[in-house]
Amino acid sequence: MQPFLNMEKTEYFIAKTFANLEPLLAEELAALGAQNCQVMSRAVAFEGDMAMMYRANYFCRTALRILWRQRKFTFTNNRQFYEQIFDFPAEKFLGADGTMVVHATIVDSIFRTPLFASLLAKDAVCDRFRDLYDERPSVDKEDPDVQFFVHVYQNEAQLFVDSSGESLHKRGYKLRNHPAPINEVVAAAMIQLSGWHGECDFIDPMCGGGTLLVEAAMQAMHIPAGFFRRHYGFMRWKNFDRETWNKVRKEAAILEDVPINFYGSDINRRFLEIAESNVFSARLKDFVTLERKDVADTKPVRTPAVVMMNPPYGERLQVEDLTALYATIGTTLKHQYAGCRAYIISSDMEALKAVGLRPSLKKTLYNGPIECRFLGYELFAGDQKAHAINKKTQS
Ligand SMILES: C[S@@+](CC[C@H](N)C(=O)[O-])C[C@H]1O[C@@H](n2cnc3c(N)ncnc32)[C@H](O)[C@@H]1O
Repeated sequence: MQPFLNMEKTEYFIAKTFANLEPLLAEELAALGAQNCQVMSRAVAFEGDMAMMYRANYFCRTALRILWRQRKFTFTNNRQFYEQIFDFPAEKFLGADGTMVVHATIVDSIFRTPLFASLLAKDAVCDRFRDLYDERPSVDKEDPDVQFFVHVYQNEAQLFVDSSGESLHKRGYKLRNHPAPINEVVAAAMIQLSGWHGECDFIDPMCGGGTLLVEAAMQAMHIPAGFFRRHYGFMRWKNFDRETWNKVRKEAAILEDVPINFYGSDINRRFLEIAESNVFSARLKDFVTLERKDVADTKPVRTPAVVMMNPPYGERLQVEDLTALYATIGTTLKHQYAGCRAYIISSDMEALKAVGLRPSLKKTLYNGPIECRFLGYELFAGDQKAHAINKKTQS
């Protein structure tokens, strides 16, 4: 028996994500069995039991972290705020000899700074431990056993405990980092937004460290997002239920093989080596072909295929002539990828215009703090107008 924990009780959670990914995340959570999913700003609220919390951490590809709400209360002064947090049984999660951190956000509140709210909450937790055990946990901002989040909006406060620990975009398969990677959560979202479900080959002709390839292969083979990750915040809680966690992991139905291929290429040998080690650590070496090539020299092995890329934006990787590079991408797609669907993410709106193709999908996404456009193109043989007329006369 685990102390203090009712595994079946319905609890309230918040899954955090990037702006504009909320509907995707809500869909993922609902498919995993979450109840009352509600889209919020950069977050989705949901309900479920402890197994659902483990499941969200393990399977959700578009979540950054999962917070479990412990308290919601109103207060009018510091004393009331302190007392409400003091009454919260933090010892369910944390030992007196453990480490913790409290983060706070405030909107329109009596607190002048988030730091003040977090210090007051931290004092309340520590004082409770001192009263109970004559000893108090210490604060560790780098690697705490337990992270608390306090969110204050006007006179209402909510206290959460962070079940994820490190952000969930850290999947555990990246042995080496590319200098300008796409965030794994954004990569997973791009693949979901494209509507590709593993029915045809997947190509990334500017693959860098291979994030899009690995995320695509993991989706096609139903490999859980957290399959390679060893640590989650909840594992360091006193009430961690290993048995339920193991049961949740067994819910994965990983495919041994898929009848499609994944192709990645990049002009830079050093970056390809990074992709190689990441593909290897994700145990996908047998499914992903990597080659050194200029994007202009690429073409699909068979069609239809989905081609997805994250060209340099000129922010972290310097490119001599971005407009010329994007124009080359456009020409290559038009002439070498007829019959495919193509997707490009970039923060450089001017360079994107140089692609010169009419997008059928346009979304604003955020690669971390960088605002980007995600554009999709249907690539037909001949010109688009002729294709549209052809389609009309056939139907
Ligand atoms: C933004 S990075 C891609 C990062 C990758 N999505 C990841 O997550 O690691 C852009 C990549 O385009 C590559 N690149 C630049 N010019 C290229 C070209 N002409 N042909 C092929 N790749 C090129 C760069 O070497 C770089 O690795």
